[in-house]
Amino acid sequence: MATPLPHADALTAEEKASLTSGKSFWESTGVDRVGIPSIYLTDGPHGVRKQREGGDHLGIGDSVPATCFPPAVALGSTWDPQLLERVGNALGDEAKAEGVGVLLGPGINIKRSPLCGRNFEYLSEDPILSGRLGAALVDGLQARGVGASLKHFAANNQETDRMRVSADIDERPLREIYLRGFQHIVEHSRPWTVMCSYNRINGVYASEDPWLLTTVLRDEWGFEGLVVSDWGAVNDRVRALVAGLDLEMPSSNGVTDAQLVAAVASGELDESVLDTAANRVIDLIAKAVDGADASADYDRDAHHALAREVAGRSIVLLKNDGILPIDPTAGVKIAVIGEFARTPRYQGAGSSQIVPTRLDNALDELRELAGSSEISFAPGYALGGADDAGLVDEAVGVAAAADVAVVFLGLPGEDESEGFDREHLELPAAQTALLEAVLAANPRVAVVLSNGGAVRLSGWAGRASAIVEGWLLGQAGGGAIADVLFGAVNPSGRLAETIPLRLEDTPAFLDFPGEAGHVRYGEGLFVGYRYYDSRDAAVDFPFGHGLSYTTFDYSGLTAVQSEVGLEVTVTITNTGDRVGREVAQVYVGVPGSVAVRPVRELKGFASVEVGAGASREVTIVIPSEDLAYFDSASAAWTVESGDYTVTVGASLRDLRASVVVPVTGDAGLAELKIDSTLGEWLKHPIGGQILGAAFAQGAGAEMGAMLADPAMLRMAESMPLNRVASFPGSPITFEQLEQLVAVVNAQVHAAS
Ligand code: BGC
Repeated sequence: MATPLPHADALTAEEKASLTSGKSFWESTGVDRVGIPSIYLTDGPHGVRKQREGGDHLGIGDSVPATCFPPAVALGSTWDPQLLERVGNALGDEAKAEGVGVLLGPGINIKRSPLCGRNFEYLSEDPILSGRLGAALVDGLQARGVGASLKHFAANNQETDRMRVSADIDERPLREIYLRGFQHIVEHSRPWTVMCSYNRINGVYASEDPWLLTTVLRDEWGFEGLVVSDWGAVNDRVRALVAGLDLEMPSSNGVTDAQLVAAVASGELDESVLDTAANRVIDLIAKAVDGADASADYDRDAHHALAREVAGRSIVLLKNDGILPIDPTAGVKIAVIGEFARTPRYQGAGSSQIVPTRLDNALDELRELAGSSEISFAPGYALGGADDAGLVDEAVGVAAAADVAVVFLGLPGEDESEGFDREHLELPAAQTALLEAVLAANPRVAVVLSNGGAVRLSGWAGRASAIVEGWLLGQAGGGAIADVLFGAVNPSGRLAETIPLRLEDTPAFLDFPGEAGHVRYGEGLFVGYRYYDSRDAAVDFPFGHGLSYTTFDYSGLTAVQSEVGLEVTVTITNTGDRVGREVAQVYVGVPGSVAVRPVRELKGFASVEVGAGASREVTIVIPSEDLAYFDSASAAWTVESGDYTVTVGASLRDLRASVVVPVTGDAGLAELKIDSTLGEWLKHPIGGQILGAAFAQGAGAEMGAMLADPAMLRMAESMPLNRVASFPGSPITFEQLEQLVAVVNAQVHAAS
């Protein structure tokens, strides 16, 4: 039951204006006179960053301790919505215990370039994966009566000049790549709030873009919640309110509230617009009040255990020649090398930085699980320090005396943060030099990586025996790494982003981060794997890749079109001797498409646990809406009729089986126009017949005979018929053409 609160019509213009902006950095404004309270909105996304009383404004590094779950880069690698829903539940419980009404997340922006400084806060380079996983986080959080804030809406794919830059994107990639995940979550999970981004899109600030905030978000997608600004994203408060931005955060100390009141008084702003925004704020407050529970608490140990489970599920085993897992009962001498083993890098910097309830490190956790193994340690490098030959020599000595070396490498914390982008994909030179020295002393090396954004591995990946991509794993990551190295957890993470061979190979390389206030998304639809795959270009590790300590077979693939979309069924058999989890990925291509398309695109997936030697049949449903592409000509989502190639794989480059399914798309033939080309006429099912008949006799016969010559036909195909009509001696007049167009289009309408 919603708590009854007064509506905007009970308030003065000043009170309404004050409601639509913050009281402080983290609180909305209430109206005491009529009993409207304020609520807390707090970061987010992978933990609760509630500022301490009296702490600094931003509260970074000074928030109340909370469980630091794995950041989005790790969560994305789980490919498991059910698991993420549990994370959402836990985040909701913690937010509630801290009296927080809205948690500022999830962030679902697409990883357009691996250089984006905030990629650790985002889930994937693919919108279907980001949309599904983001929806699960929203569902889990909101099930606890705490609102989500889906961010950053939209096209905030870089940090360089993020508060002003214009992301210049054609509508089709904007819809299909950058908005698609937002659309899915808004339509299916109904987040209480959406946070508009700082940047401009095609020249217009997201905070004051009526097309984005009203036409698309509300009119097309049916959003009924509240739009909040990113902190400081409002450029012109009156214009923003009119565009559909309801709540400005943080407080402007009343300055912009007064602008709204003045605009209402002068008639520049229709008061009903202010009423609408104020009512949306009141609705949000009512929901938060309903969800609140002053006695709420959570079990810190249970949440730490969940953080460890999720971290274990996030780790991606990129390579393994059999060196892993290490048997803890076999008396193996293990050299643990690298400062990151002792001082973990577990989250990124900026507004998402959580003060953890506790912090595990891999070295202690490995010792804990070591059994009869012997563990020695050498830091190998100093974080933030200069190269140190002594540290390398010590590490080489330790490695040489061991059976196996586990080398922890990664990006220094200062390389990755909100607010700026990375400039390269390289690990620190001191770390790669250490690795080379260790490899020379003992070739049995497993590398464990800690990095929020993809790094180049291609210089040494071929020579390491195993590579464990640990991303940033949150406060319990140390234990999760130990679990995977010793085989207590069978790795099941899969890459949610491609690891390229070189920065120069990446799709946005020539168009990132732009210049003179604009960044042109020149690669269009071809973002991430869509680019590498369509160019058949080599990558280091492909999208969807991740190994297990067991192996899986795929069989019996079928795909049928049903009322809801495509139903894809496949049987997965665990052909190894230990239980494991496989992520079956369904890629769809439309080879004969009328539209430009990537060779194949992820359309569905399932994460399933299969016992040793057992088989499981999995059905993955791809809703019709996910089969649609955005047709630029009609500016509408369209499911094309035709033969679709449905491929199931263990990664984009480990495709296991394919079937071709005829799909009946949206009815509706395209209309013809007077400037449609001869080729378009002839290919059109109705136009082709009518034109064919006209060319078979009378004045058209000569033209018909000419076009019977394939070379002539090929040359003439690209000619618009209205141009043909204006030629001297044309077999068709302009008036006749107009009549033909009318006849064809009448039949098109009758058929649809
Ligand atoms: C970030 C948001 C964050 C907000 C509040 C902004 O700078 O872009 O992601 O939620 O600050 O800290």
